[in-house]
Amino acid sequence: MADQASGLTIEALLSEDRTFPPSSEFRAQALVSSEDIYAEAEADLEGFWARQAEQIDWFQPYDKVLEWNPPYAKWFLGGKLNISYNCLDRHVQNGGGEKVAYYWEGESGETRTITYAQLLEDVCRCANALKSLGVRKGDRVAIYLPMIPELPVAMLACARIGAPHTAVFAGFSAESLSDRMNDCDAKLLITADGGIRKGSVVPLKKNSDEALKTSPSVEHVLLVKRTGEDVAVQEGRDLWWHDVVSEQPAECEPEALDSEDMLYLLYTSGTTAKPKGIVHTTAGYLLGAMTTHKLVFDIKPDDVYWCAADVGWVTGHSYIVYGPLANHTTGVMYEGVPDFPARDRWWSIVEKYKVTVLYTAPTAIRAHMKWGPQHAEAHDLSSLRLLGSVGEPINPEAWLWYYRHIGGERCPVVDTWWQTETGMIMITPLPGITTLKPGSATRPFPGVEADVVDEQGNSVPLGGAGYLVIKKPWPAMLRGIYGDPERYQQTYWSRYPGMYFPGDGAKRDEDGYFWLLGRVDDVMNVSGHRISTMEVESALVSDSRVAEAAVIGQRDDLTGEAIFAFVILRGDVESEKGLGEELRQYVATKIGAIARPKRIMFTPELPKTRSGKIMRRLLRDIANDRQLGDTTTLADTSVVETIREASTASKGDE
Ligand code: WT7
Repeated sequence: MADQASGLTIEALLSEDRTFPPSSEFRAQALVSSEDIYAEAEADLEGFWARQAEQIDWFQPYDKVLEWNPPYAKWFLGGKLNISYNCLDRHVQNGGGEKVAYYWEGESGETRTITYAQLLEDVCRCANALKSLGVRKGDRVAIYLPMIPELPVAMLACARIGAPHTAVFAGFSAESLSDRMNDCDAKLLITADGGIRKGSVVPLKKNSDEALKTSPSVEHVLLVKRTGEDVAVQEGRDLWWHDVVSEQPAECEPEALDSEDMLYLLYTSGTTAKPKGIVHTTAGYLLGAMTTHKLVFDIKPDDVYWCAADVGWVTGHSYIVYGPLANHTTGVMYEGVPDFPARDRWWSIVEKYKVTVLYTAPTAIRAHMKWGPQHAEAHDLSSLRLLGSVGEPINPEAWLWYYRHIGGERCPVVDTWWQTETGMIMITPLPGITTLKPGSATRPFPGVEADVVDEQGNSVPLGGAGYLVIKKPWPAMLRGIYGDPERYQQTYWSRYPGMYFPGDGAKRDEDGYFWLLGRVDDVMNVSGHRISTMEVESALVSDSRVAEAAVIGQRDDLTGEAIFAFVILRGDVESEKGLGEELRQYVATKIGAIARPKRIMFTPELPKTRSGKIMRRLLRDIANDRQLGDTTTLADTSVVETIREASTASKGDE
């Protein structure tokens, strides 16, 4: 089955049979120490979430837990609340204002310690500034900031006044930023002069200016001074944060928002060239993020929690900002890369702040693995008590390395499967009760009904592989794709009517454990980030020298998948030296460095069906050295052989 669609084979799975039950010490102190939670949620889904929802402070109680008109769910109907109030005000009012919300560390070593009381003031000032710039409830605000405290401040300020934010990862290009701002008609852009990455400056304001040339809806730019370099400031349009925000009053009444008011939009890649604006709303999202944050990471009041993702991705939204702050957790926020100034930077941060819970991605773990355990060994990591992983399947080898060299064989490793669309962790161990298997995300979170089905939508018996589906609504689920209800229906709900289809393949073992097998659609996973093959292809063909391009993911030891582009040049274009490099750079400029192809191969032909459709799965087979799948629909069978020979021959060149 999955073989047809994706080239995935069950054989590709390492069969891993070591198991790791929770230690009795861990279990004894864990928030969840009994299996009953699963049965409780299964017996009464709405009751389960209603009990969790007691953690939320409501301005007005809700009347109804769930209204489910597939594919549209509404949660906590009639309720009124404010997320920034739940993340900040209530903790301060309860005497928790002096607790640290974030230990922030800049790449070059400067630090800021921000308490809940300070964060509340900063958020109120920023919210007042937004209002003074004409931003009203419902207006969209684009945020294009590096990993500095102003990023969560801006998000929470938007949440305070009910203006949905759309954060754009600071690694994206001007064009990507502009596309996103145009898709949602953003009224304001919050950005910085620059960001700092590996000791160099990322020109955020310059990119923003470029983007704004084609984003007419944006009226003002709120500009944070981060690097201090010279930037163009357009009179009337651009305003410095330190001028506008700092002078505002430090109080701002939080807007009473409806449970289903939009909290944010976050763009993610799909199977077409156009990214999808995933819509998240207020109450259900908050509940999903905070409940999973607390129970999956077993969060206690004195934890120092570090999610090493970027706030610009969904991981940062749910598990650096909203979940942890709602739970009154102390977090670490680090601006830079793991190997600056040296490869032990992360471990020095863990030691310095006595981090207890660390959440990161397999690609980062594999990078540390490659650099060797001596960097971790040089630091005292004994504060750590729990480790997490997210973004792509974690190979058992990386899992074991993480467990051994970072966790000292004492910390459970929770491998958490979820997506931008799900808003919250969906398949995951509960560390106090789950026996871990390296490489498996184990079981659906309580109240999440996941299954593995075949082409027809029938549940595959234990031991088999198929497509992952979710069969019941969950509170943090996406509410749609911004401005495109048809695509929402089409992408997620049409393959198996009534079931949510995330686009992943999965296997379940004899114990019912889930093993995620990667994407089954035309989406690659590079370093835990989704990139659409179509997006890269359309960037390539926008170069006038390129006639046609086919892009696939090639297995990569470090990044999970690497982007491999097959390119046909126009008839009159000579493939000169350096053209491949030029095209790689061109894609990076068009989309962002994350989408830069690792390899480009020029080819005279691409394998196509008789109706002219490119058969990417055959290219995937070639690139990943697999036996070719079914070739009977191929118009010209000699093409794949030509490409395979060229591909093998060019390997030596790298
Ligand atoms: C896709 C979602 C959720 C935050 C990071 C990525 C893959 C994610 C796992 C995991 C296997 C995983 C899936 C998913 N993925 N976590 N633990 N095991 N695969 O968010 O960009 O929305 O990508 O990442 O393929 O569909 P995203």
